[in-house]
This record gives sequence, structure tokens and C-alpha cells, in this order.
Amino acid sequence: MNNQAREVMLDIQGLEVHFETRRGLARAVNDVDLQLYKGERFGLVGESGSGKTTMILALLRMIKTPGFIAGGRAVFDDGTDLLALSPEDVRKNRLRRVAMVPQGAMNSLNPVMRIGQQMALTMREHGEVGTGEEFEARVAKLLDQVGLVPEVADLYPHELSGGMKQRACIAQAISLSPRLILADEPTSALDVVVQRQIMQTLRQLQLQLGATVLLVGHDMGLMAQFAERVGIMYGGKLVEVGSVADVFRNPQHPYTQLLISSIPSFERRGTFQGIPGVGLSLLDSPSGCLFHPRCPQATERCAHVEPGLTQLGPGRQVSCLLYEKEETHAAPS
Ligand SMILES: Nc1ncnc2c1ncn2[C@@H]1O[C@H](COP(=O)(O)OP(=O)(O)OP(=O)(O)O)[C@@H](O)[C@H]1O
Ligand SMILES: [Mg+2]
Repeated sequence: MNNQAREVMLDIQGLEVHFETRRGLARAVNDVDLQLYKGERFGLVGESGSGKTTMILALLRMIKTPGFIAGGRAVFDDGTDLLALSPEDVRKNRLRRVAMVPQGAMNSLNPVMRIGQQMALTMREHGEVGTGEEFEARVAKLLDQVGLVPEVADLYPHELSGGMKQRACIAQAISLSPRLILADEPTSALDVVVQRQIMQTLRQLQLQLGATVLLVGHDMGLMAQFAERVGIMYGGKLVEVGSVADVFRNPQHPYTQLLISSIPSFERRGTFQGIPGVGLSLLDSPSGCLFHPRCPQATERCAHVEPGLTQLGPGRQVSCLLYEKEETHAAPS
């Protein structure tokens, strides 16, 4: 993949999401810069609590108190800043521009409504107009796109298997052809075979729609299979970004290196199990680089200086002082 040739669709700059807790302020998303290209599949990985869901919810403007977006921009290629939309525009924007495939399909489907009914209702609520028959046809087409037979429209959620429910949620998410699909561990509750099938469907849809997909996940095998680029999060920070092949074969950040080496094999199923050292507390974060207390390559400087994002190449970044050295030396004066 040639990143240089790809157009940026969403430009996230300085995204900050904080949670006001009794014990202080937690910076759940900490100064994140990320560019998503048009029509790419981007995977976001990192251990539990690293801020992946928070980042997705921020883009959807669904952060609830005690959390709040404390800063940043997320600008679409047409100039629209998702973080600056009025509440009314947030609603209009959802599904049409940005849609989410939730983790627990069960919670997002209405248990007392037939699948077809709720899909049609959602479309109407988002301003779509048409006759009952027209909506029926649209629903049937959407179900077909996600590999479900039209009869599923007449069923209630409890009559569907977990995999079918997740497919119904995907059908709902793509119903207004969004340009950005945010998928938060969409298959984590399902067995491996169903997971892979659903990821395949998501991939086909992404290609058909030309949408950009931001997939959050723990499973490195699934990520490697699905994503073109990945971002690694640690303590609310994006510490490394690059193509899947590059990040997996040639990880640059010490955290990524540890994560990759802790996975038995990319071909096999592997999940992040954590790495040595005490997990990060966002309420009592270390100075300098957040990872320095656990980092085998940390120097004295890492305890004091916060690393910025260093560009290693097109679409390839790392946030680590090891890579800032050269720049510092090369800088005039
Ligand atoms: N309701 C809340 N109240 C206080 N802090 C919160 C709340 N929700 C999230 N956080 C903070 O945000 C951090 C990031 O949480 P988030 O759910 O985004 O992590 P994640 O990467 O999605 O983890 P997981 O892999 O377990 O889903 C948490 O470590 C926590 O400190
Ligand atoms: Mg999460």
C-alpha cells in the first residue's frame, strides 16, 4: 500500500478526553494525532484501559459524564469538525457520516421490535423517507449485504444467534452508507469461526462502500487479517502507527516490541496478555514518557521528557525519545 497516494479522510489532532473521578482527573485519551485515509481499514490495539473505546466514543460524541472532550479536532475532508458539531448536527451526522458497530449486539438491538421494523425506524429517524414497501426492500437489501436472508427482518433479536445479531447490527450501521465505520471489538463475544466470517463480511462491505473502518480489538490474528494499518495505544497515547506488516515485523516502540514478542505467532490466534511491569494508572501517571517505568530501553531522559510523535515515513509514526535523538542533533542551533 502506498500511503503517499492516499487521501486523508479524517484528520484527528490533539484529541483529549478526560474523566473527572473522585481521585482526580484521568486523561483517558491523551493528545492523540491520527490521520485516517479514505477507504482504509485501520486497527487500534492496546491493553485494557488504554483508551480505545473512549477514542471511538469521542468521535461519535458519545462520551458521557464524568467524561468530557477536553480538546482537539477531528476534521473530515469536507472541513467538518466532528468535535465542534452542535448537538443537533451530531444526531444528523451519526449513521450518515459516522456509524458504529457496537461490541455487544444484544444491547444495541431493541428486544421487543422485529429486526426489519427497527432498521426501518432508525432510517426514518435519520430523515429517510419512503413507503413501507420501499423500506422493506431496503431492509432486505441490507440484510443480504451482510449475509442474512430477508426473512430475518420478521424475527425478534432473541430469535437470532449471536453471529446473526452482530450481522444485523452491521446492516443497521451501514444503512445510510457512512463514510466512517467505527467497530469496537465487534466479534469478541463470538466463537472463532463466526468471528472470522463476520470480519470477512465487514471487509467485503468496506470494499463495496469504499468506507473507512476503524476497528478496535485485542486479537492480533484478527487484526493482521483485517487491517491495513494499525495504531498502538498505551495509557491514552498513540505510541506507534504503521502498516500492519511494518508494525508487526519491524516494531519500533519498545512497548510495541514487547507486545509483538509476547504473541506466539501472528498466524495463530493471539491476544494481548500484558507485559512485565505494573500497569499504568491514569490517575497517577509518571512524568516524561508514560511507558518509561516499564520500558527496558528507558534512559534517564525518558523520566523527564515527554516524547512527541516522530514521522518515520508516510503513515508511519512512533512516539519515543529513542527516535527523537537524531532530530534533536540535526536541529540547527
Ligand atoms: N466512566 C468512567 N469513569 C472514569 N474513568 C473512566 C470511565 N470510562 C473510562 N474511564 C477511563 O478511561 C480509560 C480508558 O478506558 P477505555 O474504556 O477507553 O479503554 P479500552 O482501551 O477501550 O479498554 P478495553 O480494552 O478494556 O475495552 C480507563 O482506563 C479509565 O481510566
Ligand atoms: Mg474498550
